[in-house]
Amino acid sequence: MKNLVVSSGAGISAESGVKTFRDADGLWENYPVMDVASHDGFLRDPALIHKFYNMLREKLIDAKPNAAHYGLVELEKYFNVNVITQNVDDLHERAGSKNVLHLHGELMKVRSLRHEERVYALPCDKLTDKGLETSVDTRDPYGDPVRPHIVFFQEAVPNMDQACVLAQDADVFVVIGTSLVVYPAASLLHYAPRNAEVYYIDPRPSAVPSYVHVIPKPATEGVKELIEILTK
Ligand code: APR
Repeated sequence: MKNLVVSSGAGISAESGVKTFRDADGLWENYPVMDVASHDGFLRDPALIHKFYNMLREKLIDAKPNAAHYGLVELEKYFNVNVITQNVDDLHERAGSKNVLHLHGELMKVRSLRHEERVYALPCDKLTDKGLETSVDTRDPYGDPVRPHIVFFQEAVPNMDQACVLAQDADVFVVIGTSLVVYPAASLLHYAPRNAEVYYIDPRPSAVPSYVHVIPKPATEGVKELIEILTK
């Protein structure tokens, strides 16, 4: 089977009711990103950051995967599909995608502040807080504080090397719902081999090289069109 690699951003979850970051009324329009999603912000006010991700987690519980997420699962019948996502939601997993690589972390997980390999999927009965909310007082089984398992701005993107290797093996590379402004995730497109077919699904696409086949539609319609193109 040929390799199909997806690079998804907030736009693929927009039709599930999950806010994007930079669209009108986006997340960053209503919250100062460096206060709620940066390394310095966490050092300055960890309580605020716990509260912000508790709020996002609460909203995610009501969200459901949409036809775009399910369309990528459908493509697993025809391709070896790897999804590389900037999204911290678990909608790709909940739709049934088998191979999902998160570049910016996972909203439904927290990790030890002192041992980053100790990751806990919420809700977790090993933590002193048993539900979906955490705070500066939450402790893991070793008595250590926890933090959101999110890659904050100013922090390295640990899965980027693995993502580049996947992109370099792509026969088909598909960018879905990202403004392509945050690096290094935005550079993935350029790791796709020159002979790969490259598609970009976004109703308001950012500028991309001329060899990219742009489908200027919302993800649910764009993925449907992509499936027709790839399986005809
Ligand atoms: N279908 C597809 N794309 C959509 C839809 C939709 N229904 N609605 C909006 N979009 C597109 C927008 O046109 C835009 O190009 O989704 C993109 C959203 O861009 P951003 O809000 O910048 O989100 P993203 O590119 O994922 O941000 C990257 O920035 O703040 C950080 O860590 C955060 O992972 C995030 C990263």
